[in-house]
Parts: sequence; structure tokens; C-alpha cells
Amino acid sequence: MAQIDKSLAAVILAAGQGVRMRSTLPKVLHPVAGQPMIGHVLDTVRWLSPARTIAILAPGADAVAAAVPEATPIIQTEPKGTGDAVLRAKDALAGFDGEVLIIFGDTPLASHETMKAMVDACRDDEVSVVVLGFDPLSPDGYGRLVLADDGTLAAIVEHRDATPEQLEIGLCNSGMMVVDAKVLFDLLGQVTSDNAKGEFYLTDIIALAKAQNLVCDVVMGDEDEVMGVNSRADLANAETIAQDRLREQAMIGGATLIDPATVTLSFDTVLGSDVLIEPNVIFGPGVTVGDNVTIKGFSHMEGATIGDGASVGPFARLRPGTEIGKTARVGNFVETKNAKIADGAKASHLSYLGDATIGEGANIGAGTITCNYDGFSKSITEIGAGAFIGSNTALVAPVRVGAGAVIGAGSVITNDVQDDALALTRVPKKEIESWAGKRRENMAKSKKET
Ligand code: UD1
Ligand code: CA
Repeated sequence: MAQIDKSLAAVILAAGQGVRMRSTLPKVLHPVAGQPMIGHVLDTVRWLSPARTIAILAPGADAVAAAVPEATPIIQTEPKGTGDAVLRAKDALAGFDGEVLIIFGDTPLASHETMKAMVDACRDDEVSVVVLGFDPLSPDGYGRLVLADDGTLAAIVEHRDATPEQLEIGLCNSGMMVVDAKVLFDLLGQVTSDNAKGEFYLTDIIALAKAQNLVCDVVMGDEDEVMGVNSRADLANAETIAQDRLREQAMIGGATLIDPATVTLSFDTVLGSDVLIEPNVIFGPGVTVGDNVTIKGFSHMEGATIGDGASVGPFARLRPGTEIGKTARVGNFVETKNAKIADGAKASHLSYLGDATIGEGANIGAGTITCNYDGFSKSITEIGAGAFIGSNTALVAPVRVGAGAVIGAGSVITNDVQDDALALTRVPKKEIESWAGKRRENMAKSKKET
């Protein structure tokens, strides 16, 4: 954790309605790469270690407040515009005289490097406001940055309020700003809602600052990182960009992705060195992979830790609480949940291992099922080191199989098995000599007669 930056505060705006998402879930809680958008924004803010972090939220947005635990939540009772939203932070920032970073909760791809560049630019004694500008392919809908002759920023004009000449400007406002706290609230106090939307625009502080001979500057960002999410289509775009970044980082970090575009990663996926990831693999949140691990195609993992040299899949499903030891193997159509599989253990085919511990080097035969749920509660299965579980065994939990024990194929094990014992619950085989041949003869005869 970096040292707290005593002269930096962050205000995250997230009180907008997000109607275009058509969702009961607040917009900023929609996930990108497995994390709510506002979580990405908070990560960026956290990297800067501001002394204070404030989140401006809509009434009743308790779930959003819970997603930003280190932010002081402030309710904006009515969404009267970005200027009004920032003004809500006035009391919480009383006495603070450093820089204030204003960032949107629905801009999940903003990089901390760019935010840092803005803060540094604003720390120049001559500069009071820094705006993050960008050159979009299509400037439609964005506020335009109007520059003065000396190259400083003179005003921001919202698309709806712009003159035809101003609409020709390609340089746009990303929405993010850093403002000297000593002037911020005085400027905001002067903002009116006399505009096309009838809202209090944060962007109006630029012209107001200029009128007081304060200097406003622009730092440039790229279109990908400033993209705001307003619709499900934007959300999908943000996901694509986030995934591309994560895949690139994974490959830079020493993982081989045979077909990167088919691998879905999470914001927190940790990959060791020389990890091989086959096509069509999904990493949900909370997966940590050791060195020299192979993840074969069509595997789906979340909340799992995979030890060095292990092999997973194809078609494996690792659910939360899975811990796979070194050189262990979890093969095709094996599902694990809250399962600790020790070093060198193998479950190669067609199994469900839930609420289970599996000792070192144990072998779990095809079709083994831990019956962990009786319709009311979950119970534990323990399998000792070096045990051999025959194919198609049902282990009815709670149950313990001792170290080195052998379970005969097809058994239903309902109570504990001692170390090194053989246990089987097989029905004795019955064989009737020549029965099948006679049956065929009888069947053939009765067919002729009809
Ligand atoms: C804003 C900028 C525009 C810029 C664009 C980039 C203003 C006036 N305009 O417009 O220049 O090009 O972003 O995407 O700032 N919010 C609140 N309370 C409110 C209104 C908004 O918290 O009352 C929050 C929203 O939740 C959102 C952010 O502020 O996170 C931006 O609001 P939005 O209404 O989407 O701004 P734009 O119209 O896109
Ligand atoms: Ca300054």
C-alpha cells in the first residue's frame, strides 16, 4: 500500500439513474471482468491513496455504498447534474485544500497512470483545473473542449448547448477532472441550471474559472480508457477492452494462451509462469494458478487455487473453495466445490467432489460422487492419503476413508473405512448358465407362431 497522499481527495460520482441499462441492478454494479464497474474505479482511486474518498450516491443505493466500503457515502437526493453532485461533497471536504479528483462510477477502464498525470498537472501552482480530454472517433453527445489562443482551456460546452461551430470541435471532455479544492466549491456555487438540460453542469466551472483568470489545462487520455457505460452494448464493449488488456497482461506475465480471444479472465486472476491455457476457458473471480499448470479447453473455474504442475480439464468445473495441490490432476467432467485435493492426487474423470478433503496421492475413480447434501445440510467427506476409490462409488457424507484404503468399484459407503482396509458394498454376482441363448431361441419361436 502506497503512502497516503494527504493533499489528494477523490469524489466518485454514481448518483445518475442509468435508465438506459434497463436494469433493476444499479448501473455501477454491473460487472466488467468479474468486478462491479465502481470496483474498478475504486481500484484506480485506491492506487492514488487519497486522504479522503467520497462517493455520491442516489437515495437507497445501499448496495452501491457496500461496494465502495472505504468511501464516505453522500446521498444526492435528486440527480440535478454533475455540478450539483460534486457540490454535495462540500461539507465532507471542509478544510481540505489539496487537489480533488472527480471521477465517474461508470467509467471502469480509467487508468491510474492517467489519473496520476492529471493530479500532477494540477499540482502546478499556476494551474487550478485539469480536465481529461480525448479525441473520439465520433464526438456526438460529448462536451466539447474550447481552447483559448494560449492553448489553455477556456470553456466546456455540452453537445446540446453547442453552436454549430463548436460542434465542429473534435476535442471532447471525458468527464474526469482534477480541481484545486481552494477554488472548487466557490466555482460550483456560481453554476446555474440555465442550459438545455436544466441541470447544474460541472463543466460550467471552466468558463467561471477562466473569468477569474484561473488557468485550466487539458491532459489527454485514449478513447478506450475514458469510455463511459450507459447501455448494455457499452457494457459489452467495456468487457471486450478489459478482456484484451487482461489477456495481454497474462501473456506478458509468461502464460501461453493458444487462442486468447476465447479465454475469459477476471480482474483478479493470478497466473504463475509457464501456465498453458487451452482455448475456451473461463476464469471467474478468485482464481490463483501456480507455475507450470495446464488448463485444458472448456474448463470453468472460480474461487479456486491451483498448485504448481497441476493439470485441469478439459471440461473441468472448479467452484469456490477448491484447492488443488501440486501436480494433482482434475480431469474431464469433474466438478469440485469446497474441496481440498492434496499434492499428486488424481480425479481424472466424471466426478463430483464437494465439501471434501482428498489426501496426497489418492486416486478417485471415474464416477465417484461425494453425497454431501441430504436435503437439509451439507456434510464432509475425508479421503486419506494414497486411498483408492473404485469407479462409480457413492461416498455418503459425513464419512471418512482412511489412508491407503481401497474402495471396491460401485460401492455405496455410508460409514468410515479404516486405514489400509478394503471396503465394498457390492451385491454378489449371480450367473445362470446358457440363459441368454435359450431366451433367444424362445423369442424366435414365438415370433414364427404369430
Ligand atoms: C458528462 C459531461 C460531458 C462529457 C461526458 C463524458 C457534464 C455536464 N457533462 O456528460 O461533458 O463529455 O460526461 O461521458 O458533466 N451523476 C451524478 N449525479 C447527477 C448527474 C450525474 O452522480 O446528478 C453521475 C452519473 O452517475 C455518472 C456521471 O455523473 O457517473 C456522468 O453523468 P452523465 O449524466 O452520464 O453525464 P453526461 O451527460 O454523459
Ligand atoms: Ca494547482
